[in-house]
Amino acid sequence: MATIRLGDEAPNFTANSTEGTINFHEWLGDSWGILFSHPADYTPVCTTELGTVAKYKDAFDKRNVKVVALSVDGLDSHNDWIKDINETQHTTVNFPIIADEDRKVSELYDMIHPNANDKLTVRSVFVIGADKKVKLIITYPASTGRNFDELLRVIDSLQLTAYHKVATPANWNNGEDVVISPSISNEEIPALFPKGHKEIKPYLRMTPQPNLN
Ligand code: BEZ
Repeated sequence: MATIRLGDEAPNFTANSTEGTINFHEWLGDSWGILFSHPADYTPVCTTELGTVAKYKDAFDKRNVKVVALSVDGLDSHNDWIKDINETQHTTVNFPIIADEDRKVSELYDMIHPNANDKLTVRSVFVIGADKKVKLIITYPASTGRNFDELLRVIDSLQLTAYHKVATPANWNNGEDVVISPSISNEEIPALFPKGHKEIKPYLRMTPQPNLN
């Protein structure tokens, strides 16, 4: 198992899922992707997480993001559990869940942290860009459910900063002013940021979010 770092190509794999066999890179196509693991089927926090992800489908689609979940449980378990998720979370699971019984993908992505639990995956999140490069890695313990609004917020930042020479400040949300990249000289600013800018310090220059009308 190699360490996966930001900027690396997301390792490819073929795995069984609730929506059939997936070749990860082919399945991603030209989309961005989220690969996220959960500790186990039929557990309360995971049930709420997967239900929440199902309800966010429109938000992920709007951002051209495909989502795939994973745990080391088998396909029959996943398929039975999905009925409970749909019933209790009032939704319909609309994304594949990988059945990683042989831990092939979990080990490839370092999702089992033995000092937390030597058998189950932790709550890993990998965001992968349309170029198949890893853009974000977050790891949560089993006891803490993820905040998927935060994930959408980060994806907005990742997609904005992939195409514009800006960065997003602390607690930024879509629509708010952004930071002009330090690599941009003052002379370049008018052409790149016609909406104007404010220089708070020579190294701290703000501009309206460039991809909004
Ligand atoms: C849960 O999803 O509720 C959970 C899973 C493993 C350990 C603790 C909680």
